Amino acid sequence: MRPLIVIGNWKMNGNLAANREWVQIVCHGMEKGMPAGRRYGVCAPYPYLAQCGELIQTCSLAFLSLGAQDVSAHVSGAYTGEVSASMLRELGCTYVIVGHSERREMHQETDELVSEKALQALDNGLTPIICVGETAVERNSGRAVEVVRGQISRQVSILQDRLADCLVAYEPIWAIGTGKVASAQVAQDVHRAIRLQLAEFDEDVASHVCILYGGSVKPENAVELFAMPDIDGGLIGGASLNPRDFLAICQA
Ligand code: PGA
Repeated sequence: MRPLIVIGNWKMNGNLAANREWVQIVCHGMEKGMPAGRRYGVCAPYPYLAQCGELIQTCSLAFLSLGAQDVSAHVSGAYTGEVSASMLRELGCTYVIVGHSERREMHQETDELVSEKALQALDNGLTPIICVGETAVERNSGRAVEVVRGQISRQVSILQDRLADCLVAYEPIWAIGTGKVASAQVAQDVHRAIRLQLAEFDEDVASHVCILYGGSVKPENAVELFAMPDIDGGLIGGASLNPRDFLAICQA
């Protein structure tokens, strides 16, 4: 049985005061009780990881963890501006997003680089959240599943059975930050295709890997999305900035 996992991705948002209030509201809400067997995380910008880590530790909810939004593919050395997986681990991170479409697009990240980042994360005890997804043009030309299958197959060829310790996030690029959420059935179809493809590699891996949906998830659409058999939770951008909306999605 796969757990339901909801992760917030703040992107380049937040400040010391707002972060403090966010963690307080979310912890307070979660302390009142959450559905059993679920896990939650929040991926904060690098400069706020220490602060958020301390705040989350104070509320000591076993199911709420810290995450980062990216990681270096290198161990250490002359890589100005990069942050290593061991540093993230030291700051208390559990999760790290790799291959978000914004990084693939703005920083020319390839599937190979994304896999190397995932390996670094795994080697340091972090759970990578590997993002995949098609553009609007690819979807409109009927190639959504083919594009996502290509991304997954390149991850499988490099990560092999270590994929069992990763999360996959299907984030159609046309749905990110646009308010155009994929319908639950459209998302389910791609999630199913991903799981079938993982099963071609290893049935056990396929049945264990949690596949999150991301792209304009809101409290109003989370219930329907999370009810789908192959949707195991969500990666939440814009709506995660509001702690009450994030809580509502976590409770969906
Ligand atoms: P969104 O972003 O929820 O704002 O669409 C999701 C993401 O990019 O992870």
